[in-house]
Amino acid sequence: MTRYFPVSLDLEDRPCVVLGGGPMAFEKAQGLLLAGARVTVVASGAAAELRQAAGGGRLDLVERDYLPGDLAGAWLAIDASGSDEINAASRREAAERRVLLNVVDRAQLCDWIAPAIVRRGPLQVAVSTSGESPFLAAAVRRRLERDLGAEWEPFVRLVGEVRRRLREAGVPAADQEAVFSGLLRSDVRRLLREGDAEGAAALAEEVVRRPRPGRVWLVGAGPGGADLLTLAAREALAGADLVLHDALVDPGVLELAGPAARVVDVGKRAGGRRVPQERIDAMLLEAAARGDEVVRLKGGDPFVFGRGGEELAALAGAGIEVRLVPGVSSATAAATLAGIPLTLRGVASSVAFATARERGGGPADLARLAAAADTLVVLMALDGLAATAAALAAVVGPGRPAAVVAGAGTRRQRVVRGELGTIAAACAAAALEPPATLVVGEVVAAAAAARELSRPA
Ligand SMILES: C[S@@+](CC[C@H](N)C(=O)[O-])C[C@H]1O[C@@H](n2cnc3c(N)ncnc32)[C@H](O)[C@@H]1O
Repeated sequence: MTRYFPVSLDLEDRPCVVLGGGPMAFEKAQGLLLAGARVTVVASGAAAELRQAAGGGRLDLVERDYLPGDLAGAWLAIDASGSDEINAASRREAAERRVLLNVVDRAQLCDWIAPAIVRRGPLQVAVSTSGESPFLAAAVRRRLERDLGAEWEPFVRLVGEVRRRLREAGVPAADQEAVFSGLLRSDVRRLLREGDAEGAAALAEEVVRRPRPGRVWLVGAGPGGADLLTLAAREALAGADLVLHDALVDPGVLELAGPAARVVDVGKRAGGRRVPQERIDAMLLEAAARGDEVVRLKGGDPFVFGRGGEELAALAGAGIEVRLVPGVSSATAAATLAGIPLTLRGVASSVAFATARERGGGPADLARLAAAADTLVVLMALDGLAATAAALAAVVGPGRPAAVVAGAGTRRQRVVRGELGTIAAACAAAALEPPATLVVGEVVAAAAAARELSRPA
């Protein structure tokens, strides 16, 4: 429960009073002027900006200290005088006249408190901590300002125009909503951000005609928690009607799907049941044909041992629009999060990526790669690790440094370091669990000192 009730007041042409003549009073007067209020400032010794605004006819300036009666007829009043005496007197008068008063920095004297505001034309986001911490309110506002770029102003105006048109034409509410969600998920905002207002308007018309064409996003979810998700992946998840995800995708990532999204696990853990690939392809096609915004969410990057290529081919073959969002792949992130640089000047200048699974290449292939590259990264490494390590040791020697990184980027992250000759036994002793990635090469040992100082973000 909070005692504050957020509202957006219509102050157009309404009288408002500001007491005080310093920079704070000027800032408050500016905010009221932006809302179209008729502003009177009462202050002796007003700052130059206030005089200038009064000279330009934007506000009335009464050049004397506050006197009882100054709040008569005001809709809102702000006391930015900084004077205890004036604060007490304005408080008394506001109570008598039932004028809503804000006394700057004196929460106990206020009828209302001013939120921190993100302004994007007609879109205004007000942030309030109910007076607990103006500092935090400003910090949250700055974050929102970064998320809501300047393009939101023309975007909100454009959607507003479309809304008025649809209402005038008597379009049913459900169809209107389809258009609004189509506009939200379209490239209209991107075009506006790039300054292409004409292109944005043309695309908006297309969306109005055909709001739900249906498409599939092939999205990389990164190796672990939501912090390693890209902004594009977050955006795709927020707009999804349906999310089909791998088993390796963290629950924290799935929580970023919009509240109306259906979230379906089509993955498997080692040995578990999984939805066959053909069925996944069919689900993607059916949903897109229905007009759904579908996110196919894959661990790491969709095109690194993720069968993303096959799904892309199936969708493209059926004429479905596909959007691709790369992800942070465990192929590189597992090593990074364990403090192992895959390349290191004077130590390693080439890297090879492979899988330990027979169907994905198999040990013979691995041996060839181990001989060719300075650093070898092996995915799906835990099953049959002893055989994999032995095959590699036969080529590069059992003393080659090796590490296995399990659960990289999650709270379960563990790293076992050793040499090819001993790594399988060490992992078994540590009871490591998948998903795990093997890194083989001198880099594993070379960066030991730096590793002592490093921590994952
Ligand atoms: C089917 S592959 C998918 C790879 C994924 N597309 C990528 O780019 O990270 C699964 C393998 O990725 C690796 N992997 C995935 N997540 C991992 C993690 N959090 N830590 C270590 N390795 C991981 C493991 O080798 C696992 O067996």
